[in-house]
Amino acid sequence: MTNRIITDEKAELILDGKTYHLPVIMGTEGEKAIDIKSLRAQTGYITMDSGFMNTGACCSSITFLDGEEGVLSYRGYGIEELAENCTFVEVSYLLDNGCLPSQEQLSNFSQMLGKYAMIHEDMIRFFDGFPPNSPPMAILSSMVNSLCSFYPDMLDNPLENIDKMAARLLSKVRTIAAFSYKKSMGQPLVYPRHDLSYCANFLNMMFDSPVKPYEVDDTVVKALNKLLILHGDHEQNCSTSTVRVVGSARVNLYASISAGINALWGPLHGGANQAVMEMLDKIHMEGGNFKKYIERAKDPNDPFRLVGFGHRVYKTHDPRARIIKKACEDVLNALNVKDPLLDIARELEAVALSDEYFIERNLYPNVDFYSGIIYRAIGIPTNMFTVMFALGRLPGWIAHWKEMWDDPDWRISRPRQIYVGHKRRPFVPIERRTGCV
Ligand code: CMC
Repeated sequence: MTNRIITDEKAELILDGKTYHLPVIMGTEGEKAIDIKSLRAQTGYITMDSGFMNTGACCSSITFLDGEEGVLSYRGYGIEELAENCTFVEVSYLLDNGCLPSQEQLSNFSQMLGKYAMIHEDMIRFFDGFPPNSPPMAILSSMVNSLCSFYPDMLDNPLENIDKMAARLLSKVRTIAAFSYKKSMGQPLVYPRHDLSYCANFLNMMFDSPVKPYEVDDTVVKALNKLLILHGDHEQNCSTSTVRVVGSARVNLYASISAGINALWGPLHGGANQAVMEMLDKIHMEGGNFKKYIERAKDPNDPFRLVGFGHRVYKTHDPRARIIKKACEDVLNALNVKDPLLDIARELEAVALSDEYFIERNLYPNVDFYSGIIYRAIGIPTNMFTVMFALGRLPGWIAHWKEMWDDPDWRISRPRQIYVGHKRRPFVPIERRTGCV
């Protein structure tokens, strides 16, 4: 399934005076890896790589990323062209099926999205059980997990039904996201409509109300499509790896995605978009003195980090951040919105990019740095930002789950460790124990 090439090259490893030859595999873009599968059996050694900084966990044909050159493509198509020319629905189809849809495939897929848009009425009662001010990510992951109780019908043959399951998830997660917002506002729910496109439908469910009908604005719809496309996939990031690890135990798609949503929640990952806005807001409230935050980020004794900066893989500009920065300026102009946070973000970026600390460590703005300003301009509240990221990342998670499920090299994910605890010691009866001191 995946086009890995087993090269003639061998990696030579000398251990305890013995030489071992390990196979080298290569991907379609020339990336190489030493296959260490047989290393422990042959040598008794394992490799150590905390945080998986240098570990390939699978071969994948979904997304290519070159962090040194700032290149990103989905299924071979450059992210710039996809963001400029496609809708999120087309890109979701591309990610999950491997090719851009024909007109007919697109309309069939859109019809499926329409068909699956509602959620079971009994699920709606779940929203009432959450306390006010519950984090929307907690609500989202719980609701997605519970989908397998309400829609168990396709779970036995997941690969045969993957198209329907993907459409069901893409459509229902959008509805769940909008309903969780309406519930948090204490407003009546707005149901999905068949006559609206994916993004227009979402915006309508979020902002329509019995007292003020929502008028779908083309600029806003385009901006939302672009943001969701740019979040569509990012190869083996923390949440996608989580989906793969959980799914590797042959867990159903809904539960695997729910686990991915929880991983995305973290402020070092998808939660960064909310954290950026909170940081910019704080700087604004304090009179715009962002230099203090740059100094704090550089202080080795301060745990503070400049959120929206840095990336595990990109050692140059994040190509998504470039597109989002431009889109941010365009959207604010088109909507005639003046946001002082955009000026602060621009100044912060300029100062950070000329500072030795950030230059030496290759720290550039990432996808989360400017996205929140667009979300704010189109009316999405800050606590929903990470939910928006989840909505965008959903087709990527589905594509990876499907690829993993179908991979002939699939094994349950189970890393090893080096044990550094006590050596074996005699058991102590309770009357002679001193306890933990
Ligand atoms: N502000 C200040 N210093 C930083 C930052 C930052 N945002 N990011 C990294 N560094 C420093 C870090 O302190 C370390 O310095 P030193 O070598 O002196 O110890 C060096 O840069 C390397 O950092 P690292 O923690 O080893 O890098 P990592 O690859 O483990 O972490 C990261 C990547 C994204 C978690 C990190 O850059 C970070 O915490 N950024 C802020 C949070 C953020 O914006 N996250 C969104 C990431 S993009 C979207 C997504 O994945 O969801």
